[in-house]
Amino acid sequence: MPSLSKVSRFAITLAPLLALFQVAHGAITGAETATNITISNDYLSLYLDKAKGYITKLKLGNQDLLGTGQGLYLDCYCIPTGAWTPGGSGATFELFQGKDKLQVPYYGVRMSHDYNNIGEVLSQYWFLRDGESGLHAFSRITYNPVANPAAVQGLQEFRTLFRPNNKLWTHLLSSTDQWAPLPGAEAISKQIVVQDATWSYNRTPSDPYVMQMSDYFTKYMFSEEWRGTGVWGMYSNGSTSADGSTYGAWLVQNTKDSYFNGPIHSDLTVDGIVYNYLVSNHHGDGIPYMTTGFERTFGPQYYYFNKGNPTDDIHKLRADAMQFYDPLWNTQFYDTIARHVPGYVSSPNRGKWHAKVSIPAGASNTIAILSANGVDPQDNNVDYKSYQYWAEVDPVTGEVEIDSIVAGTYRLTVYADGIFGDYVKDGIVVEAGHTAHSHVTFKEETAGDEIFRIGIPDKSSGEYLHGYAKDPTKPLHPAQHRLYWALHDFPTDFPNGVNYEVGKSDYSKDFNYVHWSVFGGYANSLRTQPVYDVNNWTVTFDITQAQVKRKKTATFTVQLAGVKTAAGNTDVTGQPYSYLPFIVAVNGKDLDPWIIPANQSSSCAVRSAVRCYNTAHKFVFGTELLSIGKNVLTLSLPYNATDIETAILPTTVYLQYDALRLEVD
Ligand SMILES: *[C@@H]1O[C@H](CO)[C@@H](O)[C@H](O)[C@H]1NC(C)=O
Ligand SMILES: *[C@@H]1O[C@H](CO)[C@@H](O)[C@H](O)[C@H]1NC(C)=O
Ligand SMILES: *[C@@H]1O[C@H](CO)[C@@H](O)[C@H](O)[C@H]1NC(C)=O
Ligand SMILES: *[C@@H]1O[C@H](CO)[C@@H](O)[C@H](O)[C@H]1NC(C)=O
Ligand SMILES: *[C@@H]1O[C@H](CO)[C@@H](O)[C@H](O)[C@H]1NC(C)=O
Repeated sequence: MPSLSKVSRFAITLAPLLALFQVAHGAITGAETATNITISNDYLSLYLDKAKGYITKLKLGNQDLLGTGQGLYLDCYCIPTGAWTPGGSGATFELFQGKDKLQVPYYGVRMSHDYNNIGEVLSQYWFLRDGESGLHAFSRITYNPVANPAAVQGLQEFRTLFRPNNKLWTHLLSSTDQWAPLPGAEAISKQIVVQDATWSYNRTPSDPYVMQMSDYFTKYMFSEEWRGTGVWGMYSNGSTSADGSTYGAWLVQNTKDSYFNGPIHSDLTVDGIVYNYLVSNHHGDGIPYMTTGFERTFGPQYYYFNKGNPTDDIHKLRADAMQFYDPLWNTQFYDTIARHVPGYVSSPNRGKWHAKVSIPAGASNTIAILSANGVDPQDNNVDYKSYQYWAEVDPVTGEVEIDSIVAGTYRLTVYADGIFGDYVKDGIVVEAGHTAHSHVTFKEETAGDEIFRIGIPDKSSGEYLHGYAKDPTKPLHPAQHRLYWALHDFPTDFPNGVNYEVGKSDYSKDFNYVHWSVFGGYANSLRTQPVYDVNNWTVTFDITQAQVKRKKTATFTVQLAGVKTAAGNTDVTGQPYSYLPFIVAVNGKDLDPWIIPANQSSSCAVRSAVRCYNTAHKFVFGTELLSIGKNVLTLSLPYNATDIETAILPTTVYLQYDALRLEVD
């Protein structure tokens, strides 16, 4: 349970930062009229327009944060016809008021809206606590159909948006590694579509974004993984603010337990809008299905606004937001407001988990995950009531601890970079008010003696050519995989295809981060004619007599960090290659194909990612297929395997290898 000292630690760090505003600690006020709701304290004031159902005005001190932009609001892709922004005619509102356990007053507002009165209710909660300059957000959706239960199915997208349109904001940041000036108005007015939601700015070479970051822009460049540090947003460098001060607007993922798909989930964060994607299928992830009785409350997350001196850079304002990046921050406040937010689980109903993990040699970045019992963490959307937690395991002591876990039964998953195979154990029981303990002997999986491995098992294809390596051409040096993928022209890099020689080749140069079936053509603005014969890669390696003596079975493990079948990102079947046959041939002899299921398909590399929905297969064969001396493995996608895309997206299927390993036993 969080201790009071934890809470006061934040109270102490908070004070000097907010002293920036130089106003006396005064009162918080809130009011509701027929047309609007207003809430303000000494720092922040909001105005919610009841006709729209969202916050349309927001000020930090005297600085307007939104302009006439759409505002701060909830929307979804979740109704029978698709997308919906709740809050218009038919929405209901409630103003809350109270004091938390530290006697700090707060106000809150709820907007609820039942779509066409079909029994699908979306609710958005915003709370302002006195002394703070941010809004605590909860979002909720319930489905109790009045007529046709099948009218609604997938909760495909559920998100909140801080969407300004004023000139204040000059920069965007998704992580400390990925930030840039926002593209200017001229660049945007002269942009050219090169792919769905992807633009070339090559007509405005002197735009600051183009000069510093890239000639292309897509919001997917600013995707982040949920395992990462969840603080992102926008910044004003002071050139545009009324008083010359710098400003920040940040989304803080102070809790992550009500998202889905585990730490591997990655999503959009900021592109001129500061997002909180609560649910999405981006990068191939699964979504929850809304059956009768569906009920889910997401949050809290925190939209934080700050102001700095004219010389404070983007990192300084982001670092200030970091103080709230802790699931124990403000626990007593959340316990108090739990009475207004159905479905939010307060701290007396939570427990703790501790483990000691024996970490195998060669492991790094070991993580421990508690998630829905019985399923892979990336599939926890199949249980819409599930919660998820993770923590980094101390590399020296092997200790790991997670606090504030909703009482329940969990699957424990442990994995590490450099290690093939996950440790998995179901049935971990966490009781409210107690600490559960586990002892974990985490070993690398094995199917005999290792002949070779390619890459690093880390659930990503970032270690290969054009992955994590920085782009040398622009001063901000973004990771290459974040750039428009067509810049990484496969036929230029590999005029004779990928022919990897174990012991000689370097996977960071000689193995591409994507294995395409066909390269170029539709949705490739740089190479408009397709290049075929890129679909077979070879791996050559030597075997000695001693290595295979008395060995009968060979196991070739292929782990994929992502795969796009013809099922695309939404897993729709019905096209050739929706179920994708991937063939491995050993010295010219085809093994049984791995038919990669449609429901494992992702949009990955073409959406700037190297870690998407992960999948793996073991090809098992008799060692008689191996030769003493030179051997060739062929990694084969079908020739010219494409699908029909409704948006401007490349039609080819592709794989992104995580790591490969050959063993004999
Ligand atoms: C809010 O509602 C009150 C009462 O109807 C009205 O007087 C006021 O003008 C409204 N505020 C704005 C900004 O429209
Ligand atoms: C602020 O950002 C804008 C937009 O990138 C840029 O033009 C301007 O030079 C910057 N000003 C300062 C003081 O850094
Ligand atoms: C994906 O489909 C396979 C059958 O092709 C099924 O066994 C599996 O459970 C499905 N996975 C999920 C997460 O729905
Ligand atoms: C690619 O590999 C597959 C599987 O072994 C094989 O059938 C096909 O002939 C190969 N294509 C080329 C062009 O070598
Ligand atoms: C590749 O596939 C496309 C779409 O099916 C087809 O139009 C094209 O002719 C094929 N090209 C080759 C060389 O097979």
